[in-house]
Amino acid sequence: MKISLRKKLIFLNLSLLFFVTVAASVISTYEIQKYYKTQILEQMSTQLEELEYLLANTELADLSQNLLFNFVQQTQMRISLIDSLGIVIFDSNVSRDSLRFLENHYTRPEIQMSLTKKIGYDKRNSASIHKPMFYTAKVFDRKSATGNPLLEKIYFIRLAIPLKKVKDVQKAVFWKIFSGGALALVLVAFISYFFANRLTFPIHKLSVVAESIKKGNLEAHFEHNKEDELGELADLLNQMLDKLRDDLVQLHKLEKMRTQFLGNVSHELRTPIFAVQGYLETLIQMKKVEPKKQKKFIKKAYRQTARLNSLLTDLIDISRIESGEMKMIFRNFNLSKWLNKIIDDMKETARENNVILAFVNKNDKNTFVIGDKNRLKQVILNLVNNAIKYNIPEGRVNVGYEQNGDQITIFVSDTGRGISKEHINRIFERFYRVDKERSRDVGGTGLGLAIVKHIVEAHDSRIFVKSEVNEGTTFSFSLNRADQ
Ligand SMILES: Nc1ncnc2c1ncn2[C@@H]1O[C@H](COP(=O)(O)OP(=O)(O)OP(=O)(O)O)[C@@H](O)[C@H]1O
Ligand SMILES: [Mg+2]
Repeated sequence: MKISLRKKLIFLNLSLLFFVTVAASVISTYEIQKYYKTQILEQMSTQLEELEYLLANTELADLSQNLLFNFVQQTQMRISLIDSLGIVIFDSNVSRDSLRFLENHYTRPEIQMSLTKKIGYDKRNSASIHKPMFYTAKVFDRKSATGNPLLEKIYFIRLAIPLKKVKDVQKAVFWKIFSGGALALVLVAFISYFFANRLTFPIHKLSVVAESIKKGNLEAHFEHNKEDELGELADLLNQMLDKLRDDLVQLHKLEKMRTQFLGNVSHELRTPIFAVQGYLETLIQMKKVEPKKQKKFIKKAYRQTARLNSLLTDLIDISRIESGEMKMIFRNFNLSKWLNKIIDDMKETARENNVILAFVNKNDKNTFVIGDKNRLKQVILNLVNNAIKYNIPEGRVNVGYEQNGDQITIFVSDTGRGISKEHINRIFERFYRVDKERSRDVGGTGLGLAIVKHIVEAHDSRIFVKSEVNEGTTFSFSLNRADQ
């Protein structure tokens, strides 16, 4: 069964109050009863003294005189007069003739107590009248009674009241306190109901908003107007929601990029495949055997398949780098020798494109760096190929490096057409080409620089580009220097 927080709060308050009320009633009843007992005792001892005075100062001929009965009537008490041996010589509740049947009273607790204390008292069932009674007794002060033989026999005077009277008062006290407690209980029930509502309402409000978020309303906002814990919670929830919204926007962006990438990939793949198809179709439909023409088409188709191959290689590289599947193997190696060899191998391509390619640090033989030689070769090949491809006839490409503290900065710079400001920030994106047609003519797919950037960043470095339209472009990145 689900019990609401509100009910729990009310129940907690009520049960707390219930226990407090009961405990307070019991304790105060006990204390008041104690106080009442001393009050009765005091009152009765005053009356004992009064009786003593009355006895001593009245000419008494007989103990059954009206005087004593008047006293009994006035005080509603039972009087017993007892001699020094414990024999009852007068009792307002026992007839004179029956007195001799009474037990000896010397051992009664109140009588014994009165021998050592000013007043003796006890609470018990009366053996003579069979009712619970409260007894007080006092040794009779006979100084003033000398001369009266009747009084000289009295040794103890005793007063008793039915306990019922005392009990009635105690009961009344208990009920007053208890009904006060019950009233308080009802009052607190109302108050705690009110507070429980006040406390749980904002929680309820939060859960209403949470519910609407659950249903997809991400624009929801947790309202609050208090700077208490619930306010803090609402603030935190709002912050959480903000973050969620941001993450979602990011996710949508990534998703969009993914679909765009997929679209680009299919488009790029389709272009060479269509071309190959076209050449093959032409070949199939040729009526006459024209070896020269046929060879031309076969060559064209072959070039397209080569392009398809390099495109797929690039795609595989990119996905392997991005998924973290491609692990770099860092080693020390001789940068001078390594670069010299790569540049030498590319000179032929440069010449074919009517570009002069030069290695600036030809005379240096002893510069060592740390990195993945194979991946870095891909970087240099891409950068130099671009520098050749996007150059002008008779243009130059310089490759070299400079020492930069603990690092070696490698650069590839050309005298080509340059890249304008609007494009420069985007050339590292996958498939991005400044001039789509021209780039495709020279065999580009726009993946080269994306791969370059990934590899350089895997070396904890960054790729920089500086370019001036119609003057040229310089790409550079740094590697950690190594000892020889
Ligand atoms: N040295 C450069 N001078 C002028 N433009 C450049 C240079 N290098 C790159 N670009 C521009 O940046 C674009 C992206 O280069 P990237 O190397 O990524 O692709 P690509 O060369 O077109 O194709 P791929 O390298 O995948 O074969 C190029 O299309 C070109 O427009
Ligand atoms: Mg390229």
